[in-house]
Amino acid sequence: MSSRSISRIAGLSFALAIAAVPAAAENKEAAVSPQALKAKTDYCKTCHGIQGQGFRGAAPMPRLAGQQPEYIKNQLQAFIEHSRVNPVMNNVAHVLSPEMVTALSDYFKDLNPKPLGGDEASTEPVAEGKKIFEEGIPSASVPPCASCHGEDAKGNGEFPRLAGQLPDYIFRKLTGWDKERHSESSAIMQPIAHELNQAQIKAVAAYVSQLN
Ligand code: HEC
Ligand code: HEC
Repeated sequence: MSSRSISRIAGLSFALAIAAVPAAAENKEAAVSPQALKAKTDYCKTCHGIQGQGFRGAAPMPRLAGQQPEYIKNQLQAFIEHSRVNPVMNNVAHVLSPEMVTALSDYFKDLNPKPLGGDEASTEPVAEGKKIFEEGIPSASVPPCASCHGEDAKGNGEFPRLAGQLPDYIFRKLTGWDKERHSESSAIMQPIAHELNQAQIKAVAAYVSQLN
C-alpha cells in the first residue's frame, strides 16, 4: 500500500470519527443514563419491594414486577396529570421527565418474583374467584376478566397484569374506583368495578393474587 493511500484512509476514518461525535452526544442526552435509571428504580423499590413484588406498609404498595409497560406509562402519566389521585404517587411522578417515564415503564416487565400473597388469600374462595375471572358474572352483565386481562392474567398493553397482585390492593382499588381514577382508560373498567360486590371482589382478588 502506498503511503498516499494510507493517508487517504486515515483521513477518511478521521472524518467519520468527527461525524460520529455529535450523534453520540445527542443520543446520550435523549436517553436516560443507566446510573440515573438505577437511582430512580432503587427509590421505587423502597416502596414497591426490592424485586417489584409489592409491599405492605401503611397501605398496600402494588406489585410492578412483570407489569405491562404501556399500563405503567399510562398510570405514571395519569398521576402526573392528577387524573389518577394518590398523594404519594402524585408527588413521586410529577418530577419525572418524559424520558424517565418511558425508561421506568420498560424496567419492571422483566422482573419475575414469586407472588407476595396475603394472609387473607388462603382463606378466600379461590375457586369462586377463578370462575368469575374466566366466565364473568352473566346475571350482572360483568364480562369475563380474562377477556381483557388475559387468560393467564398477565395483561396486554393498557390492560394491566393482575397475576401476583396484592389482594388487599385490588380490593381497595375496586371499591374506591370513582374517587381515584378519571383517566380515559379507567372508564373502561369503571362499570365493572361498580357491579362487583365485596364478596366477589375478595374471591377474584384471592384467585389472581396467587398466580405466577
Ligand atoms: C413512598 C412510597 C412509594 C414510592 C417511593 C413509589 N411508589 Fe409507586 N405507588 C405507591 C403507592 C402507595 C401506590 C398505590 C397507589 C394507589 O393505591 O392508587 C403506588 C402505585 C404505583 C403505580 C400504579 C400501579 C398499578 O398497579 O396501578 C405505579 C405504576 C407506580 N406506583 C410506579 C412507581 C415508580 C415507577 C416509582 C419510582 C419512580 C414509584 N412508584 C415509587 C407508593 C410508592
Ligand atoms: C373490557 C375490558 C376489561 C374487563 C372485562 C375487565 N377489566 Fe379490569 N381493567 C381494564 C382496564 C382498561 C384497566 C386499566 C384502567 C386504568 O387505566 O386506570 C383495568 C384495571 C383493573 C384493575 C386495577 C389494576 C391496578 O393495578 O390498579 C383491577 C384490579 C381490575 N381491572 C380487575 C378486573 C376484574 C376483577 C375483572 C373481572 C371481574 C376485570 N378487571 C375485567 C379493563 C377490563
